[in-house]
Amino acid sequence: MTRHLRSLMDFSADDVSRVIDLAADVKRTPGAYATRLAGRSVAMIFAKQSTRTRISFEVGIHQLGGQALSLSTSGGTGMQMGRGETVEDTAKVLSRFVHAVVIRTFGQDQVDGLAAHGSIPIINALTDMFHPCQALADLLTLREKLGTTKGKKLVYVGAANNVSNSLMLAGPRAGMDVIVATPPSLPVNPEVLARAQADAKAAGTIVAFDHDPVRAVKDADAIYADTWVSMGEEEQAKELIAKLDGFRVTRKLMDATGKDALFLHCLPAHRGEEVDAEVMDGRWSVVFDEAENRLHAQKAVLLLLLGGASWS
Ligand code: CP
Repeated sequence: MTRHLRSLMDFSADDVSRVIDLAADVKRTPGAYATRLAGRSVAMIFAKQSTRTRISFEVGIHQLGGQALSLSTSGGTGMQMGRGETVEDTAKVLSRFVHAVVIRTFGQDQVDGLAAHGSIPIINALTDMFHPCQALADLLTLREKLGTTKGKKLVYVGAANNVSNSLMLAGPRAGMDVIVATPPSLPVNPEVLARAQADAKAAGTIVAFDHDPVRAVKDADAIYADTWVSMGEEEQAKELIAKLDGFRVTRKLMDATGKDALFLHCLPAHRGEEVDAEVMDGRWSVVFDEAENRLHAQKAVLLLLLGGASWS
């Protein structure tokens, strides 16, 4: 059966555990995996800007002995998808040429459509709804820094978005409580919340939201921030920034955890907006280790989905 990473709903707690274990081993001994994707080609379709995701996938595929095809959907050299070729036809054609697709796009329906109509693994490199590769790298980082994710508490502070959606799904799969501190005017997605809370109930963890960031961060082991203006929301920037007044991660908020908590950020960051520079660049911050872990976590995902490593 072809497996995908459309969102973390595709991975069980055991699957997530296997990804993180393998990612840690790939990080420790990269040479052991240097030819695992030999003869394999991966199409990388990017309809939005990217620094970390595009580069870490391209480098990661190369480090595994595979070929990465860096593609876009716009401009004179873009794919025909950008001119209206259907997702269905694109999925069928790509399945004849390459062994997997990594896609960053707007609608989750495009990721789901490629998976439904093709016969190769589809990996979500960010949609408006989910960012599962980011969450897997975050779990690797938390495990490295805290020793385990089990029994830990992560609080996401800011606008509910694709990253907070993926963290809500990641929490129960990693034995971790996840609270999203967000203003009432930028609420969490109710369907994702319901699914994450059902998963959390089964796992014995907590997924919740709170409109008071100071109350939310009490006893947190990690605070997480993301840009307040996601890709495609530039025209609403002023309005979003106003709504998020009081949700900046400051030293005071880090201190309100009552712990020596970590600070995570998926990047790119905007110092003075969602986080103060003294936190972003201070003793709490693990953001560049977190960015590096995109590479290792994604290599593990590629290995597992393309048969370069076993799931057990
Ligand atoms: N965090 C993240 O996805 O970074 P990029 O947008 O640079 O890929």
